[in-house]
Amino acid sequence: MAKKFPDTFYNPLSIIGTVLSIILFISIIFLVLIGILVPETPVYFGIITYIVLPILLILSLLLIIIGILRERKRLLKGGEIKHFISIDFDNPKHRRGAITFVIVTVVFMLLSAFGSYQAFQYSESVEFCGKLCHEVMEPEYTAYQTSPHARVRCAECHIGEGADWFVKSKLSGAYQVYSVLFNKYSRPIPTPIKNLRPAQETCERCHWPQYFFSEKKVQKTYYKKDEKNTPWTISLLMKIGGGSPELGPTAGIHWHMNINQYIEYIAKDKMRQEIIYVKTTDRSGNITEYISQDEPLTREQIDSLQKFKVDCIDCHNRPSHIYYPPTSSIDLAIYLRRIDPTLPYIKKIAVEALSYNYSSKEKALDSIRYIIQNFYGNEYKELLTSEFERVNNAVLEVQKLYSRNFFPNMNVSWRAYPINSSHLNNSGCFRCHNDKLVSPFGQKITKNCNSCHTILYQGPELNPKTLTTTGLDFIHPEDIGEEWKTTNCNECHTGL
Ligand code: HEC
Ligand code: HEC
Ligand code: HEC
Ligand code: HEC
Ligand code: HEC
Ligand code: HEC
Repeated sequence: MAKKFPDTFYNPLSIIGTVLSIILFISIIFLVLIGILVPETPVYFGIITYIVLPILLILSLLLIIIGILRERKRLLKGGEIKHFISIDFDNPKHRRGAITFVIVTVVFMLLSAFGSYQAFQYSESVEFCGKLCHEVMEPEYTAYQTSPHARVRCAECHIGEGADWFVKSKLSGAYQVYSVLFNKYSRPIPTPIKNLRPAQETCERCHWPQYFFSEKKVQKTYYKKDEKNTPWTISLLMKIGGGSPELGPTAGIHWHMNINQYIEYIAKDKMRQEIIYVKTTDRSGNITEYISQDEPLTREQIDSLQKFKVDCIDCHNRPSHIYYPPTSSIDLAIYLRRIDPTLPYIKKIAVEALSYNYSSKEKALDSIRYIIQNFYGNEYKELLTSEFERVNNAVLEVQKLYSRNFFPNMNVSWRAYPINSSHLNNSGCFRCHNDKLVSPFGQKITKNCNSCHTILYQGPELNPKTLTTTGLDFIHPEDIGEEWKTTNCNECHTGL
């Protein structure tokens, strides 16, 4: 058989490389076509088509080149080839070799451009981020699917725009793949995540705090842990506010957002729950410092410790991965009648069933059934037999709430990730708005109950129609005297 390519090509390595390349190339084309034609492909499909196979293809192409180089060296030693490269276009063999090489290179480059675009798209997809490392990302992915941002791709918050963030995220992504493969990740995944930190720039592509002026009504119904599960509703008008002096008054909650001025703080812990120093700088450069009276920092400490500038994430730290504490999720389920409120003590026993640290999901689901049925079996025997269906529905709902909010494999639950945009179950706003942070002139950051919201209604009605717009003084639903004024809510309201 006449040789179609230069002699150097005919060596075992290059031939194996060529055969492998052709097989891989055909498989990739085949899989790409399947990917286009079949709407729902399995999770690992993308990673094989767009990442694993192309890498193998590049390796086998390298094999061809290595083969040629080695062969050339061998031939050189034998003295058969004298020049480093000599292409003689009059020689049909050389011409064919050169043309094939150019065509293959061009086609390969076009395809690899397409391939890397696909690989890029794929590595940014919700499927890649949320499902591939199923166990690791299960909590975030599950919570994400029922969040207000379920249609926002992971990468839109976690990477955003800009080449530098792109590189940072791919680097930390590579480390994450490594840590998953070698089981090196921590459970729960520590937060705030440094290299993938969602920030003002990412959120502001969709939300524009300069334009937040209206107020927002937030209404919640709670159920006491008594026999009747007595309801108590609170309706609040949140003073969302905004911050551009050109567009309207700068006031309200989003006043923090760096438009007119900015706020920095120093936190004692990694989760930034204990804030010991706050500094505000207004437009004209006036500075106010608030220093914790518990253990005042010295000037050197203030200058040397790391300061964080208040960002959306300092309040909205769980816009997408919200793990609800038992009290909130049970209250909502009762309010929506997914759990029957006429079952005696159902709030109390359902919260109790969710309060234990179970070692696995299976154990948890069994125990939840046992705890609830056992309670009615002991205390309300007749009810358990006559109303078994209602009790059983409550069991199923509590089990569902467990699966949605607790992930024992990853040690994830509301305990691991506090929600900072409130102050009932975590210190949240009260991390700064408290009596401990005081300025040298004795100023404190307000804890006045009507500075962030106006109470429109509070009482036992489920859907109150009589509302006041002027605001009410807070009445604590349980008589605890003046305690709620001095003790932070979350010290008693732990979520259980
Ligand atoms: C609306 C924006 C947004 C979207 C969309 C989003 N995240 Fe997040 N994610 C966040 C924020 C904010 C944090 C907490 C960051 C912090 O505290 O620094 C976070 C934290 C995380 C963490 C760290 C552990 C934790 O729970 O704090 C993981 C893992 C994570 N996200 C994965 C994902 C995955 C996977 C998706 C897509 C299925 C996704 N995220 C979609 C905003 C988002
Ligand atoms: C790609 C666009 C997009 C990005 C990026 C985005 N959001 Fe949103 N966000 C939305 C949309 C759309 C809604 C409204 C969802 C609805 O009403 O159901 C929303 C709703 C919200 C809400 C109101 C939630 C509620 O319970 O009513 C908050 C708070 C919020 N986003 C904060 C953030 C923060 C913080 C970030 C950055 C980490 C962010 N968003 C990034 C599109 C986005
Ligand atoms: C000081 C805390 C704080 C900061 C900082 C903050 N927010 Fe908010 N934001 C709130 C609170 C509190 C609410 C109202 C309560 C709620 O919706 O849960 C709110 C409401 C919102 C809403 C819902 C508005 C509506 O009308 O439904 C969006 C969207 C939002 N914030 C986005 C952002 C973005 C984007 C940033 C950063 C540029 C930001 N927030 C910074 C505390 C904050
Ligand atoms: C990092 C510290 C910090 C956190 C966390 C924080 N704030 Fe503030 N907030 C401040 C400071 C400082 C001021 C200015 C106090 C002053 O000048 O009297 C302020 C002022 C305000 C004001 C008054 C703005 C005005 O109109 O004068 C509102 C409303 C407010 N905060 C709401 C909230 C809400 C709601 C949260 C929680 C979601 C929150 N803040 C969390 C530091 C913080
Ligand atoms: C710094 C701002 C701020 C101050 C001061 C403040 N609140 Fe709130 N409050 C909030 C925010 C933010 C929420 C969360 C609203 C939401 O869930 O969207 C909230 C929620 C609540 C709720 C509903 C609890 C829930 O989340 O289920 C009650 C009740 C409440 N506040 C009472 C009070 C009382 C009483 C005081 C005075 C001691 C007070 N607040 C002071 C910001 C504030
Ligand atoms: C000294 C402890 C303590 C403090 C501080 C406290 N509470 Fe309570 N709170 C209670 C007790 C006890 C109940 C009754 C619980 C029950 O019967 O289920 C209660 C009930 C409630 C309820 C009715 C719903 C429910 O979960 O039972 C709301 C709403 C509430 N508190 C809000 C607040 C707010 C807002 C603050 C902070 C401004 C606060 N509490 C501070 C002890 C406290």
